[in-house]
Amino acid sequence: MQILCYNICMIILDGKSLAQEIKNEVKEKVSSLTKKPTLSCLMIEGNSASEIYVRNKQRACEECGLLSKLIRLNQSTSQNELEEAIQKENKDEDVSAILLQLPLPNGLDEESAIGKIDPRKDADGLTNENMGKLFFKGVSNFAPCTPSGIIKLLDKYDVQIEGKTAVVVGRSKLVGQSIAHLLLQRNATVVLCHSKTENLKEITRMADILVVAIGKAKFIDADFVKSGAVVVDVGMNRVDGKLCGDVDFESVKEKCSMITPVPGGVGPLTVACLMENTYKLAKNNPNF
Ligand SMILES: NC(=O)c1ccc[n+]([C@@H]2O[C@H](COP(=O)([O-])OP(=O)(O)OC[C@H]3O[C@@H](n4cnc5c(N)ncnc54)[C@H](OP(=O)(O)O)[C@@H]3O)[C@@H](O)[C@H]2O)c1
Repeated sequence: MQILCYNICMIILDGKSLAQEIKNEVKEKVSSLTKKPTLSCLMIEGNSASEIYVRNKQRACEECGLLSKLIRLNQSTSQNELEEAIQKENKDEDVSAILLQLPLPNGLDEESAIGKIDPRKDADGLTNENMGKLFFKGVSNFAPCTPSGIIKLLDKYDVQIEGKTAVVVGRSKLVGQSIAHLLLQRNATVVLCHSKTENLKEITRMADILVVAIGKAKFIDADFVKSGAVVVDVGMNRVDGKLCGDVDFESVKEKCSMITPVPGGVGPLTVACLMENTYKLAKNNPNF
């Protein structure tokens, strides 16, 4: 009977429409700047998913009245060449924000490359300086795009975070660790899981809020989920040409109270928050 009730009341967290609201706000704020901000994306060619994501980001820039620039680097690009290309964007006064499209191909060091981005132009907030600020409550209102979007979505649907048990599966800097810190800052009790976690199912079943970012298609089924939990699926996997998340939506939707779809959940919010971060960086840059 209780499950039936959850089933009837289950809410799909609509990331797409919130993303549109965020982009509309950015567009309005950008019009008050004296010079149009430019987001420069650096991408190593050869990854079809990255091509799609970068195109979406460029489209969103256009929608928000931002300029975008794409630096395509071929697959044989060396670490030095990549880092020189980043330094060039650092020096370009017309560029207000820089994004290095991840993942990089094997052989290139992501951490070293990200470390070369000027923190004042770091659109995804991934440099050590910006990550450090994120980890100190109150020091920064600037966070990586995906975690920012998740918090905005939970707030939009009045999900109570304070005092709740939040389990995050996946510990990348880009997603898992950052969202864990944002949830902690909002006074959730946070457990951060990874590939070495024992008894994962027992831990995820404690979650009032379950965030999954592991990159394994439909890995989390209803067995991992507590009845009535709020489930945020960050995963973007392609199976037989179709996009799906890390959560088995069909199985979990029967048990949770709220869930993000894939596509249409976290993905569009990531892009919208990138637009917001690009605006914020330009606002703090005297050239704009
Ligand atoms: N929607 C969006 O806008 C958006 C943005 C970014 C990423 N994504 C997607 O989100 C997913 C994760 O991305 P990411 O960049 O965070 O990935 P990542 O850097 O590859 O990290 C994956 C994490 O998952 C953990 N993991 C892997 N298998 C696991 C398992 N069986 N049980 C528990 N933990 C496991 C890994 O643990 P270890 O650390 O122990 O290896 C690692 O911490 C991908 O599908 C990616 O495409 C989506």
